Amino acid sequence: MSDPDFVHRYGPWAVIAGASHGVGAAFAHLLAARGLNCVLVARRGEPLAELKAQLEREYAVEVLTVIQDLARHDACEQLVAAVGTRQVGLFVYNAGGDPYITRFIATSADDWERLLCLNSLTVMRCSHAFGGAMLERGRGGLLLVGSQAALGGVRKLAMYSATKGFALNLGESLWAEWKDHGVDVLNVLIGTVDTPTMREAMVKLNIPDALSMVLPQAEELALWALQNLAKGPTLIHPQDTLGDPPGQARREHVLATSAQAAVFIGND
Ligand SMILES: NC(=O)c1ccc[n+]([C@@H]2O[C@H](COP(=O)([O-])OP(=O)(O)OC[C@H]3O[C@@H](n4cnc5c(N)ncnc54)[C@H](OP(=O)(O)O)[C@@H]3O)[C@@H](O)[C@H]2O)c1
Repeated sequence: MSDPDFVHRYGPWAVIAGASHGVGAAFAHLLAARGLNCVLVARRGEPLAELKAQLEREYAVEVLTVIQDLARHDACEQLVAAVGTRQVGLFVYNAGGDPYITRFIATSADDWERLLCLNSLTVMRCSHAFGGAMLERGRGGLLLVGSQAALGGVRKLAMYSATKGFALNLGESLWAEWKDHGVDVLNVLIGTVDTPTMREAMVKLNIPDALSMVLPQAEELALWALQNLAKGPTLIHPQDTLGDPPGQARREHVLATSAQAAVFIGND
């Protein structure tokens, strides 16, 4: 159901980077249902075209598809050019699963560099480009889909946890800088969610009941994230579904750390 207040705050366009399936596609449906026009980004054109047709048919919004590898060094530049003059009020960065899941040395440094670009460089550049425009307008939102692996090192997930940690710290710092300027920033740290990528990885890794294991659903997770978009800087799923208000511990931590640091680096 269209939501004029939501469109005023986060519209008229949302960019969903990594939109073709799972959590990203769920965000696209929910945002289009609220009345936001959507820019859908992924590498494969066919699922994007199918989703575009579905969103246009079901919600009567405008949809632009951008076929773009977000692991390229120039990905943000290309995306900004494709978006053109459309006013982006919400930027959702969802791409970023680890396609390797190996010990650090078992994957080449070049491949790890691609994950570094996907989960860090492109996130930084897009936050700067789209977030900067939102700050000028004094409204908008930045939603970074992350992982609980961001909270510390994990065997076989060295670069995944490192790059997700980068995005977490970036997002929390931006929340502290932007919270009084009308731009919401939210990191959503997922434990596990049912996505095609996750199921394929579990099958490849010979996990017992890889296809039948019950996992949290992408639609529920995306809905919960949008309902709590203003409860930044960080929500941890599923723990924070029980917290009231959600995200309080990280919020207090970032506020306290920022206040302590201000003594040495200033309060501007
Ligand atoms: N699934 C889980 O259990 C789980 C757990 C913790 C955190 N997360 C996080 O949740 C998010 C979504 O998970 P997922 O498993 O669906 O992740 P994913 O494999 O990264 O896929 C998500 C979307 O991103 C696109 N994408 C992936 N790599 C891309 C690239 N290089 N360039 C452009 N688009 C790209 C995919 O489409 P294309 O393949 O067509 O490009 C797809 O639409 C990720 O950030 C992940 O880290 C997931």
